[in-house]
Amino acid sequence: MARILAIESSCDETAVAITGEGKLLSSVVATQISVHEKYGGVMPEIASRLHCENIGVCLKQALDEAHLSFKDLDAIAVTRGPGLIGCLHVGLQAAKTLAMMYHLPLIPVHHLAGHVYANEYVGELKFPLLCVVVSGGNTELVYMKESMDFQIIGETKDDAVGECYDKVARVLGLPYPGGVPIDKHAKNGKHTYHLPSPASPAGPFDFSYSGLKTSVINLVNSLKMKGEKVNVDDMAKSFQDVAIGMIIDRTKKAVAAYPVKQVVLAGGVSANSYLREQMTNLFKDSDIDLLIPPLWCTTDNAAMIAKVAEHLYKMKVFAPLTLGVDPNWKIDHYKEFSSTYSK
Ligand code: KG4
Repeated sequence: MARILAIESSCDETAVAITGEGKLLSSVVATQISVHEKYGGVMPEIASRLHCENIGVCLKQALDEAHLSFKDLDAIAVTRGPGLIGCLHVGLQAAKTLAMMYHLPLIPVHHLAGHVYANEYVGELKFPLLCVVVSGGNTELVYMKESMDFQIIGETKDDAVGECYDKVARVLGLPYPGGVPIDKHAKNGKHTYHLPSPASPAGPFDFSYSGLKTSVINLVNSLKMKGEKVNVDDMAKSFQDVAIGMIIDRTKKAVAAYPVKQVVLAGGVSANSYLREQMTNLFKDSDIDLLIPPLWCTTDNAAMIAKVAEHLYKMKVFAPLTLGVDPNWKIDHYKEFSSTYSK
């Protein structure tokens, strides 16, 4: 089994992991959340600078924990996109430098493929499957006929669901990132506020979150102007019912239309307790298997990047040293890479 060092720096986590001998040998994550918290969202320029400061330390710690040196590695993998452009560049330049210095193949990994394959740490992927990819930057349904074959069948036409959670949390005076606090408040609340649930904006599996976000903001502002108190628990519950309801609705439609054996949750919002509960109920008496990632895999890390890289290494999907980042890389545009590595 190849020893692969993987780097992830697409947003506000600098992460390095090493896999080998069929195991995860180390996984280091330096999170910047406490820095971005005070701005209520990720500040891209600060995030890039912090990646520059953290990348060397993370590389060293990952090697130390795995008791390895760079010379023991067989490949370097890196998140090439999607993500924040400056942040992606830090990881990619580190990866290219290592690949060049140690004459190792460079493996380009899609960030969301990482979230999907993170599930292999807890179970087996069974194809054909449907991935429900719900994160801070993306919301999409991806059909996979076989391994590493991605087809986007539905996606958000405006905001991502996680982004919507973060904006709604902000207007309610809750900390960033907003997913966890809204999830907590919703547990104590009742669905008392009327919020519109958009019909599929384009195709039957597409999403739209900007209308829901604006409705919450307008409702909170108009209540405040009237001098009425906003019940945060009830607003969180009313919002969460609609936000998660949309994901459940599109998933139901997609499994009715595609011959899937399994549904796989992926991305930061897959940590949501209500989403997990609703998905479990939906598939409990069904022939379709449900795979939910462990909580540690719902946040950004490099172990998930290493998981995808293991498959790409076997398929000999390598990138040349001229590789650039792609902040808007689509998961179904993987085929542009082939065996480009030659020692
Ligand atoms: O996957 P991720 O790190 O984002 C991208 O890589 O794009 O996910 C971060 C997002 C944030 O928007 C955060 O608020 C949301 O995931 N999140 C949650 C929960 N935990 C994290 N959203 C809803 N409920 C949660 N429990």
